[in-house]
Amino acid sequence: MSSSSPIPRHIAIIMDGNGRWAKQKNLPRLAGHNAGAKAVERVISAAQKYGVEFLTFYAFSTENWARPQEEVQGLMKLLEQTLDKYAKTAEKNNFRLLVSGRKEPLSPLIQEKILRVTQATAHKTGLTVNLALNYGSRAELLDAFAQLAAQGISAPTEADVQRCLYQPALPDPDLLIRTSGEKRLSNFLLWQCAYTEFYFTDVLWPDFSEQDFKAALDEYSRRTRRFGGI
Ligand code: FPP
Repeated sequence: MSSSSPIPRHIAIIMDGNGRWAKQKNLPRLAGHNAGAKAVERVISAAQKYGVEFLTFYAFSTENWARPQEEVQGLMKLLEQTLDKYAKTAEKNNFRLLVSGRKEPLSPLIQEKILRVTQATAHKTGLTVNLALNYGSRAELLDAFAQLAAQGISAPTEADVQRCLYQPALPDPDLLIRTSGEKRLSNFLLWQCAYTEFYFTDVLWPDFSEQDFKAALDEYSRRTRRFGGI
């Protein structure tokens, strides 16, 4: 089977380079994350404009807790503010918010805000924005295997595993974008990216613009996807 549809249905993004962006400007790392949150908004708008159906952002990994406490707290504050903003603008924004990851280590306040926005936007018919938050792909697979074991399934099929993922209804990403010149997956969507096209750019995430997004779409439209066939 060979195919290449011009617009990817699902794009997954590893937003990298916030710290380096801040350093270049002699600013604290958190200034980079704040600018990164603005880039998220630009990309959501661009995705809506070009007809992308699903966007998954790697916002905080299971490994990110190891960062200095001040940075972790700053990122959590930024997430709270972002969730508040999405709650306030839910009426006029036609996107649905999903959050993927282990909820428990997140503060009760953030968990409550997540619940509020996901419920307020559940009926939206436009773009789906999936925030990977305290997300790790190995943790997701371990959680899936635990569910399968609890269901007494010792020889799962691919469909069984898919059913136990954090977002079983989402199609696999067609395109994965990683910014800042790094070229690795960093424990992100290992199962889901089996046939995903990868796009790497040197642009630092806070600088990522609609034009950069369009460049990724253009590159994707030139790829031929074979899914292991010829
Ligand atoms: C990686 O850059 C980025 C992160 C670990 C955090 C991503 C968070 C945001 C873009 C802001 C908040 C997001 C939302 C959805 C509100 P890095 O800090 O590792 O950069 P570096 O490699 O240059 O140090």
